[in-house]
Amino acid sequence: MNAESEPKLKVLVFGASLREGSLNRKLAALAARIAEQSGALVDHASLREFDVPSYDADVESAQGIPKGAVEFRRRLVESDAFIVSSPEYNGSMPGVFKNLIDWTSRFRPQPFDGKHGLLLSASPSMVGGNRGLWALRVPLEHLGARIYPDMFSLAQAHRALAEGDIVDPVLRARFEKNVQTFLSLAEAAKHYPCIKRAWVEFLGEPADAGADRVDPVRV
Ligand code: FNR
Repeated sequence: MNAESEPKLKVLVFGASLREGSLNRKLAALAARIAEQSGALVDHASLREFDVPSYDADVESAQGIPKGAVEFRRRLVESDAFIVSSPEYNGSMPGVFKNLIDWTSRFRPQPFDGKHGLLLSASPSMVGGNRGLWALRVPLEHLGARIYPDMFSLAQAHRALAEGDIVDPVLRARFEKNVQTFLSLAEAAKHYPCIKRAWVEFLGEPADAGADRVDPVRV
C-alpha cells in the first residue's frame, strides 16, 4: 500500500459492542487483519477501554470529561483513520456508542474532524444492521469525519462468520475489497490532503452569535 520510506497509515479498529462474544468485534478483527496485510499499522481497541457514564453537563462542569472519552480521543488523534463495526439496536446505533461519541465531541479541537472512517455492521438479521450505520453516519459526519460511502453489513452473521472468517467466498472478497478501497482513500488523503477547511458546528449560525463554534483550519 505505501512505499518503504513513507510512514504507515495508522488505523484505529474496534467493535461498538461491549460483550465478549460480539459478532461486531469479530467483524472488526477481520477488517484489522486485512488492514495489517495491506501494510497499515492497526490499533486494536475494545469499547471497554472507552467506557463512560451517561453524558451529564453538570458532571462535565464539575469533573471534566471522563477517562474513557479521554482515551478514545487520544487513540483517534493518533490515528489517520478508524474502522468501526457497530451493532444495530432498534433500527439505530447502540446508545452506549452514541454516548461515547457525545462525550468525545466535547473536546476542542474536534477530534473526529477530518478523520476517515469506515462503517461496518454485523447482525443475525437479514439486513445485517445496515439501518444502524445510516444513523451512525449522522453524528460522525456532523463532527467532520469523512465517512466512506460504501458500508459493509453482514447479514445472518451468526452463521456467516465461522472459523475466523466470512464463510461465503463472494461476500469475503467483497468485504476485503471494501476495506482495501477505504484504506487506499485514507492513504491518499494522508499524503495528499486536498480538503482544507474549518469545522463549523452550526453552519448557518450568525458569525458573532454565542452558538457560533468554529475550529480553525488544520493542514
Ligand atoms: C438488537 N438486535 C437488533 N438487530 C438488528 O438487526 N436490528 C435491530 O434493530 C436490533 N435491535 C436490537 C435491540 C437491542 C436492545 C438488542 C440487545 C439487540 C440484535 C443485535 O443485532 C444482536 O444482538 C447482535 O448480535 C448485537 O451485536 P454484537 O453484540 O453481537 O456485536
